[in-house]
This record gives sequence, structure tokens and C-alpha cells, in this order.
Amino acid sequence: MTTFQQHLVSRRTIYKFTDEDVSADVIDQALEAAAAAPCHKHTHPWKFYSIGEKARISLLPDVKRLAEIKSRKKGSQRLEEDLQRAVEKILHVPVLFAITSKRNPSDLFREKEDYAATVCALHNMVLSFWANGVGSMWSTGSITREEQTYQHLGIDPEKEEIIGFLKAGYPQSIPTVRKPHFSEVTTNLH
Ligand SMILES: Cc1cc2nc3c(=O)[nH]c(=O)nc-3n(C[C@H](O)[C@H](O)[C@H](O)COP(=O)(O)O)c2cc1C
Repeated sequence: MTTFQQHLVSRRTIYKFTDEDVSADVIDQALEAAAAAPCHKHTHPWKFYSIGEKARISLLPDVKRLAEIKSRKKGSQRLEEDLQRAVEKILHVPVLFAITSKRNPSDLFREKEDYAATVCALHNMVLSFWANGVGSMWSTGSITREEQTYQHLGIDPEKEEIIGFLKAGYPQSIPTVRKPHFSEVTTNLH
């Protein structure tokens, strides 16, 4: 049996997914876990936008434009392949969410605390997925920060900030990542 601790330390960001669908029940469990996250002052600053096919298609012109800029910047000789890969990353991922946090320009401390709470919610979602064998990837790629993305997804940029997209699905493979041992970042004060 996997203990909760094993579950936490085994989680990895998953970059490639199989075509298998993720059931509505597994997605609902992840959203339920997200909604249970801690938040100071009970502000519940998070929102989850499930991005379906039509909405994904609406993002594609910007996805291609941004991929072209990136491809040219790195001097790639494979522009068409780069664009295709960028499109597939949006179109073919089994589950795609945009997660937003409430903006609060008149109270930047509250906005920071709300961001922290939304990160907790997003990570609860990641861990719930992982418990069901579903991998995910938090992305802050340029498409998540585009003005047009807000328009296409019907998100008011004055009220909410997209803190990332979450892509999810069954892992094709699980990467190995070396993490610094906790003793390297822990100070015991006596
Ligand atoms: C705030 C945040 C933003 C991220 N954005 C991206 C991204 O845009 N592209 C990407 O490939 N990975 C992204 N990642 C995944 C990290 O690269 C990944 O967490 C890191 O490599 C450590 O691997 P692990 O998650 O398996 O421990 C992001 C992670 C976090 C926490």
C-alpha cells in the first residue's frame, strides 16, 4: 500500500500523456481536493476553468504565433515541427485547466496570500490526480500570460490572474528528478 508520504515524494511533473481519457469522477475528486485547500480569511481566491475542445481551438492562433517567436529566437531549423508540437500540447492533452487567483491591487499583501492559497489548491489537485494514477504538469508558458487567452477563456484580467495551466493525463513515462536533500535547506536553531 502506498503511504501518504510515499505518495507525496513520488510525485513528478509529467510531460507526456497516453491517449486514455481521465474520468469525470477522477477530475471531480481533484477539484474537490483543490476546494479543500487552506486559505487565510476564507477568501477562496481560486477558480478552475476546464478548457474543452472549442476553447482550445480558439487558443491555437496565439499558440502558433508564440511558438513561432520561440522557435525563431532559439534559431530552430524546424519551424513547422515546433508549431505542430505546440499545437498538440494544447489540443491533445487529455485534461486542460486554467487556474486563476483573485487580483487585489489595492491590498498587495492579501493578493500575495491569495496567490499562496491558490497554489495550495492547485497542488491539492495535482496530488489528488497522482493518487488516482494521473500525472500532471503545471505550465506558466507564454500562452498562459497572453491578453487574448483571457478573452478566449472569458476571464476578466482585472479581477483574476491566470497562475497557470494544468495539463493532466495518464503518464507515458515518469521522469527521474534529483532533489536536494532536505538537510541542505534546513537550519536548526537552538
Ligand atoms: C510555478 C511552476 C511553473 C511551472 N511551469 C512550467 C512550464 O511552463 N514548463 C515546464 O516544462 N514545466 C513547468 N513547471 C514544472 C517544473 O519544471 C517541475 O516542477 C520541475 O522540473 C521539478 O520537477 P518535479 O515537478 O517532477 O519535481 C512548473 C512548475 C511550477 C511549480
